[in-house]
Amino acid sequence: MNTDDIPESSFGTHDTGPLDGKTIILGVSGGIAAYKACDLASRLRKAGADVHVVMTPHAKAFVTPLTFQTLTRNPVHCEQFGEHGEWKPEHIELAQSADLVLVAPATANLIAKLSTGICDELLGTIILATQAEVMLAPAMNPIMLEHPATQFNLGVLQNRYRYEIIPPDMGEMACGDWGTGKMASVDTITDMVVSRLMANRSLTGKQILITAGGTREPIDPVRFIGNRSSGKMGIAMADAAHARGADVTLITTVEVDRSYPVVVVETAQDMQEAVETEFDSCDALIMTAAVADYRPIVVSRQKIKKTDSDDIVLELTKNPDILDLLGHVKRKDQVIIGFAAESDDLLNNAQQKLKRKQLDLIIGNDITVPDIGFGSDFNAVVILTAEGTRENLPRMPKRAIADHICNWLANRLANLDHSTVAK
Ligand code: CTP
Repeated sequence: MNTDDIPESSFGTHDTGPLDGKTIILGVSGGIAAYKACDLASRLRKAGADVHVVMTPHAKAFVTPLTFQTLTRNPVHCEQFGEHGEWKPEHIELAQSADLVLVAPATANLIAKLSTGICDELLGTIILATQAEVMLAPAMNPIMLEHPATQFNLGVLQNRYRYEIIPPDMGEMACGDWGTGKMASVDTITDMVVSRLMANRSLTGKQILITAGGTREPIDPVRFIGNRSSGKMGIAMADAAHARGADVTLITTVEVDRSYPVVVVETAQDMQEAVETEFDSCDALIMTAAVADYRPIVVSRQKIKKTDSDDIVLELTKNPDILDLLGHVKRKDQVIIGFAAESDDLLNNAQQKLKRKQLDLIIGNDITVPDIGFGSDFNAVVILTAEGTRENLPRMPKRAIADHICNWLANRLANLDHSTVAK
């Protein structure tokens, strides 16, 4: 949903919108993208939220507090201490009453401070003092973003503190550099905030089994046959389903620290065993993993040595097709979703897999399109249902795609429940 499409008058002075009744602290740190935070503040208010802006001292070099005060109709908070150095307890009250703290833009400096719990300015203090959900929209130069320190800090915030990172976009930076580091668009951030805060509990009580990552088929103790899957889509799926109240089990080849059960596997056969163990008790299986179709017939116990021969032959045998097997034995009250990453004839290939594996839904993407898919935080997909409907989702964060799929799944499971009750 694009809240910009909603005329201001429809919210009126009573501010009724998707975020009606929600209190959002919008943290603004000192980067050029701070100017976009003005639009964001306005959007969030128009969507019904009570928006309180907290600016770091550096942010004031880019935008004035008066701008945010005018847009949000609330006082703007900048100082950790009052004029006479006294502590302001209302800041803590604000931290405690918020439904969400959104930091946009989040600079490398702020991200570093948050990951170590430094609170030498008001925004860091509020984030440390809040129990609300925290979302960060990083914005910085691409080299700063790629720096191991920043990547490490983002990892801590995401995996240990469970902050949601809104992936920065690709494009030309204010400094003239080109790359990934632009703050996500105001549309994307607004949509992600709306879906986060409106996160219905529509999958409560449902057991959802999700696979992620690429399997590794060993050749010898040091080598394996693998693929480029990063596991990001599957992890986003698991996070989205969990946020909707589902009992999620994630079976993954990529280690990840989450509050729901995570089973780490390596090979296709390991994955098959783990999935089959859980399948009977699940309401839905979402196979996001890239499963190797073949594995070496013989796994050498010793490292295979180079020989004088120019050629070497590796004999492979077929792996089980987990989705195909389970698609043919699934119960009527179960839903099965597959993925298809294709390099050519996307629609046709995805359609064939949907049918052959007896899936309820398949999500296809074209792996030849640059900057999406493998390893990226973004994807653009086509979604096909067994009933023959088709929907195209343009380039968007994988979490946004996951939210979309969860909406479909919640509807489908609700309909199945309804038809069971009706019988
Ligand atoms: N899949 C599976 N087991 C396999 C291979 C694939 O469960 N051995 C699942 C994947 O998790 C995915 C779907 O099937 O959800 C499609 O996977 P994909 O690799 O695109 O298709 P394949 O059937 O392997 O066909 P191909 O590799 O020839 O495109």
